Amino acid sequence: MMSITTTQIGSVSLPSYVFGASGPNCTTLEQLQIVGRSDAAAIMIKTCTLEYREGNPEPRYVEVPLGSINSMGYPNLGYKEYLRIIPILKEFKKPIIASLGVLKASEFPTLIEAFNTADVDFLELNFSCPNLTGKPQIGYDFEMTDSLLKELVPLIKKPFGIKLPPYFDPVHWEQAATIFKKYPIGALVCINSIGNTLIIDPETEQPLIKPKGGFGGLGGDFVKPVALANVRAFSQLLGDKMSIIGVGGIKSGMDAFEFLLCGADAVQIGTQFMKEGPECFGRIDRELAEILKRKGYKSIAEAKGKLKPL
Ligand code: SIN
Repeated sequence: MMSITTTQIGSVSLPSYVFGASGPNCTTLEQLQIVGRSDAAAIMIKTCTLEYREGNPEPRYVEVPLGSINSMGYPNLGYKEYLRIIPILKEFKKPIIASLGVLKASEFPTLIEAFNTADVDFLELNFSCPNLTGKPQIGYDFEMTDSLLKELVPLIKKPFGIKLPPYFDPVHWEQAATIFKKYPIGALVCINSIGNTLIIDPETEQPLIKPKGGFGGLGGDFVKPVALANVRAFSQLLGDKMSIIGVGGIKSGMDAFEFLLCGADAVQIGTQFMKEGPECFGRIDRELAEILKRKGYKSIAEAKGKLKPL
């Protein structure tokens, strides 16, 4: 039976509304198999790079009452290992999403060409990691974003999306949307963590995380209003042309419903997945289904973007 939370990102159908962000707990084969066995709508793989990466020094992920701060630095097995793992993940019969990341923009074509022929359903280009020392977030450089998309889009043979940093001003949403609408982008993923924030412990008089002098990406409750605003803004500007995937502070079905009202076609879970484990996907999706039924909505499509004016 089809679930009330069945949805679509770009041309890819998802059996439900909730899956993992790239991402906690999605680096090793064992972690990906756990996601495969869960109720996640898709198997999202940790952003991969050309080579294996240990990532940044520990501690690099710390939870606090209102969320999390991380500076992981793309720890991953290297793309060739994911190409080996992907066929193993097919047994779970759910969409598989690869996330591609680079240290230099010139590395993207090799990754794209490799995943074009892999058995993945969707590619997420990560334009927004804040945790690579000395490497600015691509998504904050509109000229580079445009020229990269111009170069990469003709190479991409799969449905794809871009993971974006949070923007904070209407002019940035408008400038970004003017670029994105020129390309056949399947989905915008809003938002990556709020980069380069600082949480300190006044007792120890130290930052909570080690890399980059303690500066890291903020997730969880702290960021939900920023994520909602980014989803809403891009949904209003581009929602008729591409899907919007919401990420940021989603802990419950009600949070997911808020993202749906703002125009999200699906949501990803980061901090709460770290905290609760893979049960969070099914729980949040079931809570969302209950809310939709109670409010008389028959589908995701019916409630999507239906935020009412005040
Ligand atoms: C990281 O690996 O540092 C986090 C990934 C990201 O923010 O895109």
